[in-house]
Amino acid sequence: MSGPNKYRVLVTSNDVSPSGIELLKEKYDVTIIPAAISTREQVLQALPGHDAIFLAGHHVVNKELLDIAGPTLKVVSSMSAGYDHMDIPEIKKRGIKVGNTPNVLTAAVAEVAVMLTLSAARRAHEGRIQIAENKWISTPQWMLGRDLRGSTVGIVGLGNIGQAVVKRLKPFEINRFIYSGHSRKPAGDALGATFVSFTDLLKESDFIIVATPLNGETVNLFSKDTFAQMKKTAILVNVGRGPVVNTDDLVEALQSNTIFAAGLDVMYPEPLPSNHPLLSLPNAVIIPHLGSATVQTRCDMSTTAAQNVINALEGKPLVYEL
Ligand code: DGY
Repeated sequence: MSGPNKYRVLVTSNDVSPSGIELLKEKYDVTIIPAAISTREQVLQALPGHDAIFLAGHHVVNKELLDIAGPTLKVVSSMSAGYDHMDIPEIKKRGIKVGNTPNVLTAAVAEVAVMLTLSAARRAHEGRIQIAENKWISTPQWMLGRDLRGSTVGIVGLGNIGQAVVKRLKPFEINRFIYSGHSRKPAGDALGATFVSFTDLLKESDFIIVATPLNGETVNLFSKDTFAQMKKTAILVNVGRGPVVNTDDLVEALQSNTIFAAGLDVMYPEPLPSNHPLLSLPNAVIIPHLGSATVQTRCDMSTTAAQNVINALEGKPLVYEL
C-alpha cells in the first residue's frame, strides 16, 4: 500500500543494520523506537495502529501485546532464529503472519560453538587468569586441556546449527559424532553422525554441544541429574538458549569438577549480573549471546526480517514463516 494510506511498520530498536530498514522505508511508514533496547512499555505504547512489527530484540509477543496492537496487525517479524519469546499459536490464531530469520545466522553461531569448544577445552579463560595473577609457571603438567582429536562429540539438537557445527569440527579428527533429539535424521546419516538416546549421549560424549531450541521439553534439560551422568572430563557448550541448562546446577557441577568445563554463549539469566557466581569460575568460558553478532550476519538478518514484513504485507509467502 502506498500514498497517504501506506502500511505502518514498527521497528523496536534504532540499533538495527540499515539494510532491512531501508527496504521498509521505500514502501511504508516506518516508526523506529528511539532506543537501542526498547522497553516493553515503549513497544506497547507505540504499537496500536501498526500493520507490522519488526522485533529487533526478544520482546515477548503474547496475548497482551496482540490485544494492544489491535486488528491492524498483520505480521510479526522477529530478527532472530529463536522464537521462544513469541506465542506462535496465539499469533496464528488471529490470522497474523509470523516469521523469523534462521539459516542466515547458522554459520556465525556454529563458528561461536567451535570457538567456545576449543576455548573451554584448552582452558583459555583460566590461562588468562593465571597470567593476571602472576601464576605462569609452564611446568610440564601445568594447565593441561582436553583434545578434540579422537573424542566423541555429542550434539543435542541436530538442526541447521547442529549440522553446521559437525561440519566445522570434522577437520579436528573427531572419532565419533553422536546426536540426540526426536528421531534419526537423514542429515545425521549424511554427516556420519549416530543417533543415540539422550542418556547415551550424556554417558559417551567428551564434548556436548547444545544447539536445541527452548521449549517445554528442553527447559532445564541439563540439571544436577544430567551432570551426574556425564563424564568428569566432559565439556558442555551451549549456543542454544540459556534456560536449557539449569544455571545453579551448572555452577555446582563446575565448582565440584563433576564436569571439566563449560563454554556458554547463552545462559540464564541474560544479561548475567556482573556479580554472578558463573563469572567467578575459571572453568567457564562465557560470552554475552554473541552467536549471530557479526556485521554481515546482522545485516542479513535485518534484510530477511524486513523481507518477511514485505512479503506478508504483499500477500506473498514469507521467506521464513513459523
Ligand atoms: C537468535 O537469532 O535466536 C539468536 O540467539 C540471536 O538472538
